[in-house]
Order: sequence, then C-alpha cells, then structure tokens
Amino acid sequence: MDGLLSALKGRSLLSLLDISAEEFQALLGLASMLKAGTGSPRCIKVLGLLFQKASTRTRVSFTVAMYQLEGQVIDLNPNVTQVSRGEPLGDTARVLGRYVDIMAIRTFDQGDLEQFRDLSGIPVINALSDLYHPCQAIADVLTVRESFGDRSDLTLTYLGDGNNVAHSLMLGCALAGINVRVAVPEGYEPDKTVLEQAQAIAGDATEVTVTHDPVAAVSGAHALYTDVWASMGQEDLADEREPIFQPYQLNDELLAKADAEAIVLHCLPAYRGKEITNEAMEGGRSRIWDQAENRLHGQKALLVSILGAD
Ligand code: CP
Ligand code: NVA
Repeated sequence: MDGLLSALKGRSLLSLLDISAEEFQALLGLASMLKAGTGSPRCIKVLGLLFQKASTRTRVSFTVAMYQLEGQVIDLNPNVTQVSRGEPLGDTARVLGRYVDIMAIRTFDQGDLEQFRDLSGIPVINALSDLYHPCQAIADVLTVRESFGDRSDLTLTYLGDGNNVAHSLMLGCALAGINVRVAVPEGYEPDKTVLEQAQAIAGDATEVTVTHDPVAAVSGAHALYTDVWASMGQEDLADEREPIFQPYQLNDELLAKADAEAIVLHCLPAYRGKEITNEAMEGGRSRIWDQAENRLHGQKALLVSILGAD
C-alpha cells in the first residue's frame, strides 16, 4: 500500500488525461482498500475549496475525506473571498499557493484550472468544469467494478447530454477497459477531441462509440448512466431541451433492453421524471447511492495519492 499512498505525488488532476491506465487502476485499488478500512493513512495537510458553482456531493465528500485523513479544509467560496469582487484568478492562485497544500476547484472554464495550476505551484484537482468531471468518473468506474468485478467484457451506456460527465466517463471507461456507448440527441454530441482521446486510450482493447439511437445503445449494456439535461449555467435552456432529450430518458423500458443484471447510475443531482424516472432511480438495479458514497472513497484515494501520507 505504501507506494500507492504517493503514486501521484505533487501532481494535478485537471482531467483523466493527466493519469495513465496503470495509475487509474492503482487509484481505484487504493479507493477500494480505504473503503474496506484497510490502513488508515494520515495526511495532515490543508485543502482549499474554490467552487464557482453549487455542489453537495463534491464539496462534502472532499471535506469529509480530508477530515478522515486528519487534514484541514478551508472554504474559499467566491462569496467569502475577494474572487467575487473581481480579484483576478491568477493573483488569487499565486497567493493561495503560498498558504494551502492543494486546491479543489469547480469552475466553468477548463482554462481557469490550468491557469491556477500553473500560477499557484500546488496540485489542483478539477472538482467539475464545463468540460470534465474526473472525480465523478473515478467513483463511477469504482461502482461498476464493485458490481461486476474486473471483467473485460463490460459495456456502460451513457444517455443524455454529451458534456462534462460524459467526457470524463468516456476517458475513465477507456482507462479501465470498459466499453462505453454515448447516446445523445443530434447537436449534443461529446467534444470530438475528447472522443478521439478516449478512443486512443481504448486502442483495440475496448470501444468508445457515439450514437443517436438510445435503444441500440442500451442493448445488452451492463450499466445505464444519465445526467441532467441542462447543466449548471444552462438552466434557461431546460424547457426547450426537454422534448429533444425525452427519448434518452433512463426508464424501465430502456432498462429492459439492457443486460439482465444491468445497473442504473446517475451522478446526481437528479430530476425525476426528466432524465430518469423515479422507478429507475429507486428500483432494485439502482446503484446510485453507492455511486454517491464512492465519491468519498475515490477522492480520499486521490488526495492521499497526490499529497502522500504523513
Ligand atoms: N455529482 C456531483 O458532482 O454532485 P454535486 O454537484 O452535488 O457536487
Ligand atoms: N452535468 C452536470 C453535472 C452535475 C454534477 C452539470 O455540470 O451541472
């Protein structure tokens, strides 16, 4: 376990492109060990949380993870810092880098994360941007592995909007050797560059595909996954998107076409009756609450892996 506790020492995680398949597997292994209570590493460091968007799971799981590691957390919400009064992010980064050991940042622009990493001189973790949600994908893959083990024939189908969560899932599944099908309405496809990057990681081992056909996408799949139809910052578009996304709703009808053991996943928060039905969320196939719990174990593994154990 000792090697795992500093496997990503000093590194940032702005997307899953920042780690290798071997490192990703090691991170998942460490998360499983910590979840099982094997070892109780201490990491007496200070994590700063700078969140430009709302968050329940990410904020709380990072905070609890750090407390369980006997570290400290500082809430650097824009409203309680000079960020909301317009202090440039680059200036904020150069100052905070002299105080705290690591930052988790939730923002709109991926460029903000890169700027912060480059100017602060400390590791930065992407706690969600418009482009990626890597911490979510760590928990997602961990949950799939808990349900099905290390099988090489697994397929996860993502239904909905081809943005941040889909992007990180594509990369995470490719790193983990899980086939991934992304089913989206026309015009809502994932970023072409991210698709190509995921396909390059997958190589000949697995497939990363995009389709407009939700029925074909779920056929025989082992995990069905969805996310909101209008992400944070896109709330004004929710009404116009509803009829466009309706065929991609995760419901019992689509679930019936998946593998007999297929599980249901959602990153949360969920809008029941929109991207997922109440029945699918609350049914026996749902692993959504385990998935949410795994945010804690995945991020604890990430923190200790980057900061090292004291
Ligand atoms: N899934 C997720 O990131 O949830 P929060 O927005 O509540 O952090
Ligand atoms: N795609 C969603 C994910 C929320 C966790 C959003 O960006 O709002």
